[in-house]
Amino acid sequence: MRFKELVRPTIKDIKEYVPGKSIEEIAIKYGLDPDTIIKLGSNENPLGASPLAVAAIKKNAGRVHLYPPADPLELRKAIGDHTGYPATNIVVSGNGMDGIFDTMMKLFISQGTESIIPIPTFSYYEIATLANGGKPVFVDRDSDFYISPEKILGKVNKNTRMIFLCSPNNPSGNSITEKDVRKILDSTGAIVFIDEAYVEFANSSMTGLVREYQNLIVGRTFSKAFGLAGMRMGYAVVPEWIAREYMKVMTPFSMDVLSTAAGSAALGDREYLKKSIKTVKNGRMQLSKALGSLCKVYPSEANFLMIDISPRSAKEVSESLLKKGIIIRDCTSFRGAGKSLIRISVGTKTQNEKVIEAFREIL
Ligand SMILES: Cc1ncc(COP(=O)(O)O)c(C=O)c1O
Repeated sequence: MRFKELVRPTIKDIKEYVPGKSIEEIAIKYGLDPDTIIKLGSNENPLGASPLAVAAIKKNAGRVHLYPPADPLELRKAIGDHTGYPATNIVVSGNGMDGIFDTMMKLFISQGTESIIPIPTFSYYEIATLANGGKPVFVDRDSDFYISPEKILGKVNKNTRMIFLCSPNNPSGNSITEKDVRKILDSTGAIVFIDEAYVEFANSSMTGLVREYQNLIVGRTFSKAFGLAGMRMGYAVVPEWIAREYMKVMTPFSMDVLSTAAGSAALGDREYLKKSIKTVKNGRMQLSKALGSLCKVYPSEANFLMIDISPRSAKEVSESLLKKGIIIRDCTSFRGAGKSLIRISVGTKTQNEKVIEAFREIL
């Protein structure tokens, strides 16, 4: 069909994003009761959302016929208070952190430019680069999934516009050190995007560096520790000049009425956030201790664990767990991950116990 030729050439190289499996699809495929399925494939909050956020959604349901404010300043202020910045350093997206990537790519990536991506990592950096006409340049992590700043800097050239550092990294769970981040920032004229989707479960954040570096973006999400994946809210801490450029090209009214209300309420519920983090840290220990005696479990600062189940294949083990009603993530679709890595989100204590039992049976 000749109209297909109108599609931008780099789009042809895109392999569609592979999401974690849903409860509905697994219930149908394996004839299981949806209520018995344990979903640990998408790194969501096993406790659900804060009750205050749910109440705010209900309270605002009667207002959905009205446009939200074009600029959700109150929410940006609340995020600013949470991160220690004024609202002028905060940008938001009503399509999760994925929406932040899209808008930042509109600003910095075009035909002939490049982004550097240490792999294996979150696959949307590659998709969004290609979708904007850019070329993703991949750097392999070492056997412990460490990224060497020198290796990254070795790939920088005059076309490099963005460098993506996921910390803690999805799917490996390890974080980058401030020293290494500084080394990269100090030696490049490109924009460095640190993806902190899982930072609430980690020991350190790089947001403080935005005060020092004009080429740093730190992306965050409400989908993980805040338990609002279904609301699709993301934000980033950025230098003011980037915030101004971002506002010019972001989708108008992108932050909807219900998300704005839920986000503000969730930020106000510190107790719930603390409880969510504690649940993950305890569960992470419970799972890594038990599963560590059966296979290689990598240390994680996130709300998931990456496990090498070789000589078995990730596909085979994930299938066996699915049949038992446990959804985990087969990492085969992550570029550079090989065929024996799986990722399991940390669940509640009871869910984790079921996972451990299933592993004992399977391995
Ligand atoms: C590392 C990383 N970044 C970003 C995202 C996207 O988050 P959001 O739900 O805010 O779009 C995810 C989602 O799983 C992720 O793992």
